[in-house]
Amino acid sequence: MVSKDTERSRREFVKAAVAIGGASALSACTDRLPGGGPDAPSGSDPASRPARQYAWDGALPTDDAGNVRNARHHVLLLLDLPGDGTPSAGDREAVGTVLDDLDRAYEWSADGLLFTVGYSPFYFDRFDADLPGNVDLPEPEALSSFEDPVLEDPDAVLHLASDHGPVVLAAEEALRGNREEANGQSFGAALTDAFEVRDRRTGFVGTGLPAQHQDVEGVPDDEPVSEDAPLYMGFKSGFKKNQATEDRVAISQGAFADGTTQHVSKLRLRLEDWYGEQDHENRVAEMFCPAHAEEGKIPEGGTGESLGTDSGMDDCQDPSESAREHGRVGHSQKMATDAREDDSPLIIRRDFDSTDDGQATLHFVALHEAIADFAETRKAMNGEELTENPAIRQRVNNGILEYTFVRRRGNYLLPPRSLRALPTPTGAGE
Ligand code: HEM
Repeated sequence: MVSKDTERSRREFVKAAVAIGGASALSACTDRLPGGGPDAPSGSDPASRPARQYAWDGALPTDDAGNVRNARHHVLLLLDLPGDGTPSAGDREAVGTVLDDLDRAYEWSADGLLFTVGYSPFYFDRFDADLPGNVDLPEPEALSSFEDPVLEDPDAVLHLASDHGPVVLAAEEALRGNREEANGQSFGAALTDAFEVRDRRTGFVGTGLPAQHQDVEGVPDDEPVSEDAPLYMGFKSGFKKNQATEDRVAISQGAFADGTTQHVSKLRLRLEDWYGEQDHENRVAEMFCPAHAEEGKIPEGGTGESLGTDSGMDDCQDPSESAREHGRVGHSQKMATDAREDDSPLIIRRDFDSTDDGQATLHFVALHEAIADFAETRKAMNGEELTENPAIRQRVNNGILEYTFVRRRGNYLLPPRSLRALPTPTGAGE
């Protein structure tokens, strides 16, 4: 039997390897795993895969309550096409080949590999034609009065996710042309035949991982992140009833039907006061709502599993009432009031934490039918109108705004699988 300590140090090692990346990290990582690393389950014919690239919910495991649990290890690659022109037929063929090979290499699951590729408005600007009117893909912009993010303009973004660090690394190495096979599947092309890699972001989400990586700027030195926490801030997120469904975020018709739009932001976390000045009850009040704190809905030491599949926002007051009565409002409480349709959020969250740049970071990956849905959701988080109450300031007593700082924003279109290789704006071939 593997001891808990051995298992823990193995997991820490894999996480560190994902962050470092590259062939040496991969071989160091697989060398350390029993039998050279787990062989992941093999993939399948690309034609048998779901039409929606983002159809991950059915492929991910669920927790005891039935909430979809995100994969534990993630990599985002930001990609540029060299030059100003439209992609060539050769570029398109290379990208198509490599993504098909990735489908064949790994099972569509958290034990295998889940991935999406999305294209920015700057990519589509390369063409004379416009995107169809029902695709909302504006250039990124600042979404609050108190942020000044880098507005990102790569051509594309690739998101890789798996429960196994070595799987993400091996897939990335094959995509970058640094190895010719992954999981026994040979690759007929590399993504880098067409693209240059502009930036690489890595991360993790799930019980134990944030605690193991809390030796980072933005988290106090006394290791306040609990072993049970799936995210640095200590609570579970992504309850079933507080996520949009994949149907809701689908583009419903036209050339990009079964596609969706994606917002990728990078938030720096500064958790000194979150942990230094607040106790558990205060943190529940600011993350969920003051009523949850008062009623002990999340017992001390808990991360939110006591809530089941629903963050229980019906039991919170209206945010303005919380402001009057308690002098503060919770993050989830604000989110669940506006930016909803038919009692559902407008977005699916697939965010994960990171130690990129040596700083506690959140890569917030969100899916929605239109980028406007994300903007509306972020407006709810800003809670500007709540500052009419003098107890609530723009960033103080206003959910988690005091601890989260937006550094970068980018917008992308995830086309349906059939158009995932360098699509034209009309979806037609060239
Ligand atoms: C460190 C940053 C963040 C953390 C730790 C966090 C955590 C949470 C938690 C614990 C919940 C309640 C439980 C649940 O997921 O259902 C929640 C709800 C939610 N959050 Fe966040 N969140 C963060 C940032 C954001 C951002 C940047 C957005 C988007 C602008 C966002 C959008 C939402 C939405 C839409 C909900 C569900 C609201 C509903 O029920 O309608 N969150 N978040």
